[in-house]
Amino acid sequence: MKTISVSNEKEMSRKAAEIIIALIRENPNAVLGLATGGTPEGTYRALALDHQKNKTTYRSVRTVNLDEYVGLDANDPNSYHAYMEEHLFRHIDIPQDQHFLPNGSAESLEAECRRYDRMIERLGGIDLQLLGIGENGHIGFNEPGTPFQTATHVVTLTESTRRANARYFENIDEVPAQAITMGISTILKSKAILLLASGEKKADAVRRLLTETQNTDFPASSLIAHPNVTVIADREAMSRVHLYQ
Ligand code: PGA
Repeated sequence: MKTISVSNEKEMSRKAAEIIIALIRENPNAVLGLATGGTPEGTYRALALDHQKNKTTYRSVRTVNLDEYVGLDANDPNSYHAYMEEHLFRHIDIPQDQHFLPNGSAESLEAECRRYDRMIERLGGIDLQLLGIGENGHIGFNEPGTPFQTATHVVTLTESTRRANARYFENIDEVPAQAITMGISTILKSKAILLLASGEKKADAVRRLLTETQNTDFPASSLIAHPNVTVIADREAMSRVHLYQ
């Protein structure tokens, strides 16, 4: 695992955007795995700005997102479909039919999970998967205890994850109880992984990521076995690492 320490969130976002832009310029047909949440917002802003200024094109890029809430329509402002539209897709030139998220309103959620994994395979797999990390070590919505060999599946969100995401909703009762998430094995099939962490709230998760051995109690530890993982963490997120070195 390669670690890049940066001073703050802005620098983390700039560095992540640089890596993504370099990949797209080298491979205009790249398949990008994307994430939602607070962490990648700055990266998406930097990509949008670069598209505007430097004309990096996404015309042949395909994107697949990690997850989507169950029961929220794509038009629901709290859906991850809406998040991606707002933070990235509407600001770049990616065609409508080249960005994909799980359908949380599918009639058969099981069939939707299988379809999503097959679709990623048909695209040729993910070239670079962007990840955040949950305070409890989750990646995507793979919560502690998830076996590392799981493919895309339906999860029941933990109380701590629902609390962490309640900031986007009127109140915690409105946070959906379930989501569809790429599984850990889906994520691990990506050719490269870029995990971002910013802020004191992530300090414990980053310490565990960089010091623990693989264990299913801490889903992000599954990444240790992957040959091409880059972690970009800011000073606050790295603040507990030195204590254990
Ligand atoms: P955050 O979420 O970026 O909103 O902190 C990250 C995650 O839970 O994976």
